This record gives sequence, structure tokens and C-alpha cells, in this order.
Amino acid sequence: MSLVVLKLGGSVVTDKDEPETVDEAGLAAAADAVATLAESGRVAVVHGGGSFGHHHAAEHGVSSESGSHDALGVRAIHDAMKRLNDAVLDTLADRGVAALPVHPLSAGAREADDSLSLPLAATETMLDEGFVPVLHGDVIAHAGKGATIVSGDDLVVSLASGLGADRVGLCSTVPGVLDADGDVIPEITAFADAADALGGSDSTDVTGGMAAKVRKLLALGAPAHVFGPEGLSAFVAGESPGTVIRGE
Ligand code: IPE
Repeated sequence: MSLVVLKLGGSVVTDKDEPETVDEAGLAAAADAVATLAESGRVAVVHGGGSFGHHHAAEHGVSSESGSHDALGVRAIHDAMKRLNDAVLDTLADRGVAALPVHPLSAGAREADDSLSLPLAATETMLDEGFVPVLHGDVIAHAGKGATIVSGDDLVVSLASGLGADRVGLCSTVPGVLDADGDVIPEITAFADAADALGGSDSTDVTGGMAAKVRKLLALGAPAHVFGPEGLSAFVAGESPGTVIRGE
């Protein structure tokens, strides 16, 4: 049965300006989309941190590069992400979706070369048994650094390549990968297609911006669609809203 991996950006399911605030309308629309996808195939969900994760990560000086050995700080970040994960699971359950949590802190680690090692037995068995696993950006043990942040995007790449996803969706508040004029680039098949607009540099949040995302998605064996909330229903319908990133 086909597998879709869908990332819900933290800015879609939370109000990024208010600490630990769910965006009820954004989360409801996203959950409707997941419910529809789950009717016709396997779906794994990953959500970002938004106003639950980033604020605690910044407070404790933890990013995808800078680690911490302070267990209480690590727990503060993880516990905030679990609160958001609970809200996502509850909203999915309200729609009859058999959603179960998978917490990356307890499941995986990052190696000294920064690569993510994410054993997939739990996620895969959940999928085979008809559940919808819901992972989230998290804090995670990192060889030589204590614990660092693993982004939802990195989790999507590990899941999609490890489980052989047929389609990947990344829903954030931007309508796609934008060119230098601010227009959506419909298709990217090589980094050069977007290099001018992305400038090769990563932007502000603790887990990197669009350039890093495009590089990782190009390496996947499945098409990855980057779109905004207005593209969710088209993605669910099998269309290509926003930008499709298709490595060769
Ligand atoms: C960040 O995950 C998780 C934490 C800060 C703990 P993401 O990087 O995937 O989150 P968003 O989508 O940008 O909010």
C-alpha cells in the first residue's frame, strides 16, 4: 500500500508569536487532510516545533549545531514538544484517525558526523498495523555534543528514504520554494534550479532554512512537494501544489 510522509510545519499548527499556543484552525485543517490521506493508504506524519519547540530550544542554547548536556534543559524542550504532539494526536483522534506518538528522543540519535540514525521498527510496524505514526522535531542525543535539535525535515528525509515513501509533502506557511522575484518555482530537479534564490545560505530558525531543505529533498527517491496551507487539499488529491522537488 502506498506511503505518504507529511510534514506539518510548526508555523502551520502553532501560533509562532505566542509561546505554546496551538493554531486551532491550522491544526484542524491539517488533521482533516491527514484523515483523508489515511482513508486511502498509509500515512506517517511529522510536525515541527513552532511556538512549542523553538522558544525552549533558544532559552537553553540548543540548536541543530549547539548541544547541551543539561538534562533538565533537554527535558524542557522535549516536554514542550510532547505537549504539542498530544494536541496533534487528540485532533487526529477526533477525526477517527488511529494516530500514535513516536518520540525521536527515545527512538534515535545523531552520530558524530551529524547524520541521523533513526531505527524505524516501531514506525513501520505501526504503519503495517493500520496506525498513523506521528513524529515531531525534537531534541535528540548527539555523539560528542550532548543533545541537539533534530528538525522535522530531517525526520521526513529519514522516514521517506528508510520506508520507501511514494510521496512526501512539506506544508509550511510559504507557498513553495520562491525565486528571486518571490514567485513559486514549480519544479526543482537540481540545486542549481533554485541556487540564485536560495543564495546557498540558511535562514534564521534553529534548524536551518530552505537551502538545506532543498538539498536534502533532492536526495530522496520520491517526489517532495513544498506548499502552504492553501495547497493541502490539492496535495491530498494527488496534485502538485507549490514546488515539486524531484532528484534525478
Ligand atoms: C524543531 O522542529 C523542533 C524543536 C525546536 C524542538 P522543526 O524545525 O521541524 O520545526 P518548525 O517546523 O520549523 O517549527
